[in-house]
Amino acid sequence: MGWFSPDITTMNDLFVHTLQDIYYAEHQIAKALPDMAAKASDRELKKGFQTHLKQTRGQIKRLDQAFKKLKLKPQGTKCPAIDGIIDETNEIAGEITDKMVLNAALIAAAQAVEHYEITRYGTLTAWAKLLGHADVARLFAANLKEEKATDKKLNTIARTRINKKAMLRKPRKLDKRTQDAILAAQAGIPAI
Ligand SMILES: [Fe+2]
Ligand SMILES: [Fe+2]
Repeated sequence: MGWFSPDITTMNDLFVHTLQDIYYAEHQIAKALPDMAAKASDRELKKGFQTHLKQTRGQIKRLDQAFKKLKLKPQGTKCPAIDGIIDETNEIAGEITDKMVLNAALIAAAQAVEHYEITRYGTLTAWAKLLGHADVARLFAANLKEEKATDKKLNTIARTRINKKAMLRKPRKLDKRTQDAILAAQAGIPAI
């Protein structure tokens, strides 16, 4: 089922599609979080990612309950938005050598994920209420509350622990051989 495809004709179709979208997204996030925790060198940030992994597993269980209450089979639909955020995180993290700058990048990426989830759960909560599924709306609201709290926690870690330290980091000094190789490349001289 894709956006604007003939499969989505009613608000209920759109609601189910969005539920499947966040179901897929939560599974991708659960896969990405252990790697983010492994890359984080700040103790509190690492612990924060590990805690949110446990929360994410609980959120998936709430989504399973939502599907059950709606008498639907739990099923995801590919969400290019979350795939894009995770791909970008891996790409940027792979380019950063300084540990503290990497911590700052991981927080920024995690907040992008949280904000995505906040928009989805905000929408799903409102639509579930409109469609007469108050019990399902409560499940989405519980997930929404956790995402907002996580975003706030990440903000605090960034402001009190990471950003200032990352700002003080100096560019890495290159050894003579690397400097010569860069100069030669800039001058168009093939490397030996
Ligand atoms: Fe989540
Ligand atoms: Fe989250």
